[in-house]
Amino acid sequence: MGNFLAGKVVAVTGAGRGIGRAVARAAAAEGAEVVVNDYGVGIGGGEPTSEIAEAVVKEITAAGGEAVAVADDISTMAGGRRVVDTALARYGRIDGVVCVAGILRERMLFNMSEEEWDPVVATHLKGTFTLFRAASAVMRRQGSGTLIGFTSGNHQGSVAQANYSAAKGGIISLVRSAALGLAKYGVTANAVAPVARTRMSANVPMELKEIGEPEDVAALVTYLLSDRAVAAGGEKITGQVYTIAGPKIAVWAQPRELRAAYAEGSWTPEKIAGFLPGTVGTDPMPMLAQLEAMARAAAAEDRPNAQRPE
Ligand SMILES: NC(=O)c1ccc[n+]([C@@H]2O[C@H](COP(=O)([O-])OP(=O)(O)OC[C@H]3O[C@@H](n4cnc5c(N)ncnc54)[C@H](O)[C@@H]3O)[C@@H](O)[C@H]2O)c1
Repeated sequence: MGNFLAGKVVAVTGAGRGIGRAVARAAAAEGAEVVVNDYGVGIGGGEPTSEIAEAVVKEITAAGGEAVAVADDISTMAGGRRVVDTALARYGRIDGVVCVAGILRERMLFNMSEEEWDPVVATHLKGTFTLFRAASAVMRRQGSGTLIGFTSGNHQGSVAQANYSAAKGGIISLVRSAALGLAKYGVTANAVAPVARTRMSANVPMELKEIGEPEDVAALVTYLLSDRAVAAGGEKITGQVYTIAGPKIAVWAQPRELRAAYAEGSWTPEKIAGFLPGTVGTDPMPMLAQLEAMARAAAAEDRPNAQRPE
């Protein structure tokens, strides 16, 4: 066992499987006392069972670590609060919160139902808020703490998961808001966009070129939870979004205006039509270009087959 997180208390949601489980195990192995939360649901969010969280607690204690299970649904305020309250009741403080819990309900936007939209946004986005809300109130009093949200490269957009993509974009804004609002209390907030082999990534229709294991993601989260998460300039790392995909770690740009232009007088649609294309213009969407390239490659592959003699 290492001591990256010695003396810290860390709560991890969605810690019964996949990346959350790896994060909980890694945090415990680095000396943290860990609250293992998992509602124990199927990939679409149904059929909860408390056994999933309890099994990970057993793994951690068998390895000599310290952990407690909370099998609540973190998309409810009561569930989020119970995770934080359990940390306080059992270990007396909360130093880190890692919101990993997630589900998928894939559907094209034009066919998506309210039952496919609401639970996905509730699990990812509200499920991050419920933990951040409860933990930040304690961390503010402590004068320290770290909040970590889980986003995805899909926050850039998704063909058949608008619900998931919108929630993941929301998590980035929530994390940056937490970083801004809590900086003066010594509390940091960052987001992780992982690519790792789990039941969820097995569900992705296209082949992922850069992919790693949940343990790679856990190493980054452990680092971000630790006192060593300090930038080259000496300041605590906060308000950042990191991708980790196998051997690669990348930082995402802060959202910023790309290009601006000004005109005299008031705007009309006609004036904008003559002005905008040649000045402000557009910022080409990389994922759209990728889709078009994939469609071209698929068409090129089909062509020889189509011409193959009988
Ligand atoms: N695996 C990847 O490559 C990948 C890529 C991008 C983003 N992510 C994100 O990383 C996170 C973890 O993904 P994973 O691949 O480990 O998924 P996973 O399906 O293996 O694990 C998710 C866990 O969350 C739990 N959960 C679901 N709803 C819950 C709720 N309401 N309350 C508490 N627990 C709940 C599930 O029971 C499950 O154990 C997710 O937020 C996912 O969107 C994963």
